[in-house]
Amino acid sequence: MATTSPSMQTELDGPEVLRRGLREQRAEIAVDDVPLKGQLPPWLTGTLVRLSPSRWDAGDQQMRHWFDGLAMLHRFGIRDGRVDYANRFLRTKQYRSITEEGHMATSEFGTDPCRTLFGRVMTMFRPDFTDNANVNVVKLAGEAIAMTETPIPMTFDPETLETIGVSPWAEHVPGMLTIAHPHADPVTGDLVSFATEISRHCKVNVYRMDPQTRETTVIASIPDPKIPYMHSFAITERHVILVTFPLVIDQLAMMKGALKRGGGVVDHFRWEPERGSTFHVFDRETGEQRASIAGPAFFSFHHVNAFEREDGRVVVDLFAYEDGSIVEALMIEDLRAGTATLPGAELRRCELDLDAGTVDIRPLADPNAELGRIDYARHNGRPYRWLYAVSSQGTRPGAREALLGDQLVKIDVESGAFSAWHEAGCLPSEPVFVARPGGTQEDDGVALSVVLDARSETSFLLALDAATFTEIARAELPQHVPLGFHGAFFS
Ligand SMILES: [Fe+2]
Repeated sequence: MATTSPSMQTELDGPEVLRRGLREQRAEIAVDDVPLKGQLPPWLTGTLVRLSPSRWDAGDQQMRHWFDGLAMLHRFGIRDGRVDYANRFLRTKQYRSITEEGHMATSEFGTDPCRTLFGRVMTMFRPDFTDNANVNVVKLAGEAIAMTETPIPMTFDPETLETIGVSPWAEHVPGMLTIAHPHADPVTGDLVSFATEISRHCKVNVYRMDPQTRETTVIASIPDPKIPYMHSFAITERHVILVTFPLVIDQLAMMKGALKRGGGVVDHFRWEPERGSTFHVFDRETGEQRASIAGPAFFSFHHVNAFEREDGRVVVDLFAYEDGSIVEALMIEDLRAGTATLPGAELRRCELDLDAGTVDIRPLADPNAELGRIDYARHNGRPYRWLYAVSSQGTRPGAREALLGDQLVKIDVESGAFSAWHEAGCLPSEPVFVARPGGTQEDDGVALSVVLDARSETSFLLALDAATFTEIARAELPQHVPLGFHGAFFS
C-alpha cells in the first residue's frame, strides 16, 4: 500500500532540490507560535531536538564533506497542539574558531585545516579532536548531549539551546574514535557503546557506563590491525553485536597523510572486501564472546534493531550497502552540483546461528531505506514489527539511494509490506516515532519528520499518524533547516 499526499507540481529537478536542501543556514531565530495546518494530538507534549550541519564555509577554506558542517540545534517545542521553534549553532571550539578567527580549529571528517608545516607535523603526534557534535542527540542522566564520532560529547540546554560545555562523560570514553549511537541498557539503564583505541594495532572496546556515577567498564575488546569503521551497533536482551565491515581506516596512512594539505580522515578509508564482514556477539553482562561469525563483504551505517528468536537464533536488521563507496560519495560540492552518485541502501535481515557459527542474510523489504526509527523504548533489543525510515522514489540520478531520499516509509518487517509519504520537491528527515502514552499497539503514536520544501526554500515539521502513515499536521517555518542526520524527542 502506498499513499501520496496531494501536492503541487514542481519544476525543480532532483539535483536542484538537493542543492537547496544543502544550502547553509546561519540565521538563528525563535518563533513562538509556528503556523500550523492540521491538528496535533493533545497528548503530544515535549521537545523534538534535531541536529543539522548548517555551515561549510570555514573562512579561509571550504569544508569538503556533508558530515563536516557546523552543528546547529533545532528545537520544536510541542504543547497543547501548538509548536514553537528555535535554532542555534552549538558554541564549540570549532564554531568560535571559524566565526571569530576565520579558520578551522581542528580536523573534520573530510577536511583538515590549513596548517603551517609545523602544525601539520604536530598533529601526527598529538591528534586534535573536533567538538563539532553534529550527528545525534541523546539524554543521559538528565543531560541533553549532542554527539559525533570523536569522544567529545557536548551538553546543551534543550529549552534555551545554550551550549553548556563538554560532558564529563568525555573523560571516560575508552578510545579515540567512537560513535553517536550509544544504546541504553533496558534493564540497568546503563549506557552501552564502544570506542576504538588507535595505535599501530587498534582495539575496539565495548563498554558500559553508569550514567549517574560515570563508572565505566570495558566488557569486551576486538583487536584489529586497522580501524574498522562502524557507525552503530545492536543489542538484544542478552547480547551485544558489533559487525566489523571491510571498510577500514588505515591509521598508518592517516598519520603520514597528516602532511597532506586539506584532506581529512575520509581520504584514508580503504575498502578491503577480502576481509569480509564479521559478526561479533558478546554476552552483555559477562563480556564472554558467544560467537565470531564470518559473513560477506558489505557496509552499513545504521543498525535498525536486533533480537533473540525462540530457537536461539539472533536476528540483526540493518541498512546495507554493497560496498563502502557511500562514505566518499557525500562530498558537499558533488552533492550540490548534482554529480554525486549515491549507492542504494537495502534493509537486510541477518540471522545468526551462534552454535553453528553461520549467518543467513536476506533483503527484508522492497523499498530502499536509511535513517530508520522504531518504538525504541519498548522494542529495542526485542522482537518488533514496525520501522519508520527515509527512502527514495528513485527519480534522481543514482536511482535507489535512500540517504537524502525524497519519501518516508513505514515498513512491516514481518511481511515486507510498506506505506509511503511523498510530496514533490520535498526531502524529509529521519522520522522520529513518539508513542502515545498508554497505547498498547506498537504503532500507536506519531512519526515526526522535519521536511525540506525546496519549492519555497523553507522547512516544516511534519506529523504523521504512525498507524495509518498519513499526515495529521504540519508546522511551517519561515526558513529552511539544512538536511541533517538525527534527533530525539524529550517528553
Ligand atoms: Fe547515524
